Amino acid sequence: MAVREILKMGDPRLLRVARPVTQFDTDALHLLISDMLDTMHAANGAGLAAPQIGVDLQLVIFGTDAVNPRYPQAPPIPRTVLINPVVTPLPAPQGGVDLVEDWEGCLSVPGLRAVVPRHGRVRYAGFDPYGDAIEREVDGFHARVVQHECDHLAGVLYPMRVRDFTRFGFTEVLFPGLDASQDD
Ligand code: NI
Repeated sequence: MAVREILKMGDPRLLRVARPVTQFDTDALHLLISDMLDTMHAANGAGLAAPQIGVDLQLVIFGTDAVNPRYPQAPPIPRTVLINPVVTPLPAPQGGVDLVEDWEGCLSVPGLRAVVPRHGRVRYAGFDPYGDAIEREVDGFHARVVQHECDHLAGVLYPMRVRDFTRFGFTEVLFPGLDASQDD
């Protein structure tokens, strides 16, 4: 159990395409997940991908058991460990739009937020730490978090997806009411 250093944008390890996990339910895998959970909770993150602590594997964690102080408006997402994920966009319900814009931050891009377009609904599939299959259809903030975390496995950071740079800035300036001690 340990809080690990989170790599920041500019570190080339964040730009790698991660390798699939090939062995499940190993001591090394459980230790890695334990460290990632400790690291995410210490930083009040909504999610964390293994490449963010320098581990070149297709593994993401996300979700909260309670309200996250960094995202106080967000509905709770079940705490999930997702390995070797595949994310598939789903069409919006009738009358809806497929791409939805909302604010995002990233523990590897501290102090900044931007509006990022994401698919409003996705199906995601993958495995839990024991190798059992996970498959869910989700929307809203849950869908956004999954897309953000899985982007890390392809070496993509959210600023690469920003289209409108007038809505990209420092959290303390954009959202002065937000708790300044919660650096993202
Ligand atoms: Ni991130």
